Amino acid sequence: MRIRNGICILLAVFLLAGCGSDGTDTKEKKDIKIGVSVYNQYDTFVSELLDEIRSYADVMEEKYEISITLEILNASANQVTQNDQMDYFIENECDIVCINLVDRTDASTIIERGKSADIPIIFFNRELVEEDLQRWDKLYYVGADAFESGIIQGEVLIEKLEKDFTSVDKNGDGILQYVMLEGEAGHQDSIIRTMYAINTVSDAGYQLERMADEIANWNRDQGKTKMTQWIEAFGDEIEVVFANNDDMALGAIDALKDAGYFGMSELKAPIILGIDGTKPALEAVEKGELYGTVLNDSVGQARGMLELAYSVVTGEELDSEYTLLDEKYIRLPYQEISKK
Ligand code: BGC
Repeated sequence: MRIRNGICILLAVFLLAGCGSDGTDTKEKKDIKIGVSVYNQYDTFVSELLDEIRSYADVMEEKYEISITLEILNASANQVTQNDQMDYFIENECDIVCINLVDRTDASTIIERGKSADIPIIFFNRELVEEDLQRWDKLYYVGADAFESGIIQGEVLIEKLEKDFTSVDKNGDGILQYVMLEGEAGHQDSIIRTMYAINTVSDAGYQLERMADEIANWNRDQGKTKMTQWIEAFGDEIEVVFANNDDMALGAIDALKDAGYFGMSELKAPIILGIDGTKPALEAVEKGELYGTVLNDSVGQARGMLELAYSVVTGEELDSEYTLLDEKYIRLPYQEISKK
């Protein structure tokens, strides 16, 4: 992230490598400028991913003896702002940009701008549609397969049910009464996680009854508000809380605490399940408040993205830790986290 001896290095590179007919030679590039725009820098998962981008950039500088300049911008949930940020990255001569789309169905402006300026784009976390990704050979996606996290979330619950069904089925009716906190409408991780988590549990032979299912936009406060309403409506009847991410699960825990659950209380809290494995969620698992979560590998995604950026810009082989599928995708696996 520091421009180290910028001019000397540039000169040396020029002399050693010589330039191609277009005046560039990617092979020996030593100064890499990467533009990063995120949909919302206050999103817990995204901010953990950004922290890793910043610290892994330092590791990469040592590893490849290069200098990396990061330009990180917050799109504040506005696609027009993000489109303008793409112009800024182009004007500032970024070699490559990493985009966490605000609206994953509206990637066309950014793609067109990148293409006309010949700046490759790595999209991450908010997956654009396949047709958009196919529009140019310098477009990539780094993320995870949403269905996997839904399946693992279901499996975490199944393991508990196999050991201890009666403690989950508080009213003893043999059916699991659940509520679902969903992420943003239209986000691949909301739709798919919801479906796969529920199907995994019911395919294992358990009967489920949906008491409520609402969007809380990945947000802890909104998760808390929804859960407060459900506690008022259903009281102690809720046996399982599925949340599409950890922040909403933590919001549900906040609501339950306000309603007198946890600690010394006689009230038995429902089983609460999240996804992400963020730091606050891991603490809640440790305390036994969050029953389990699914690691959404922000570290692997950040590192994979920087390794891919380096490989695309320099033309070097991609680090062997990562596989580029169909010349477009790096997908990191999810992993179960529970205290057991
Ligand atoms: C994460 C959420 C996050 C969202 C942002 C999801 O993959 O699980 O926590 O809010 O991405 O796009």
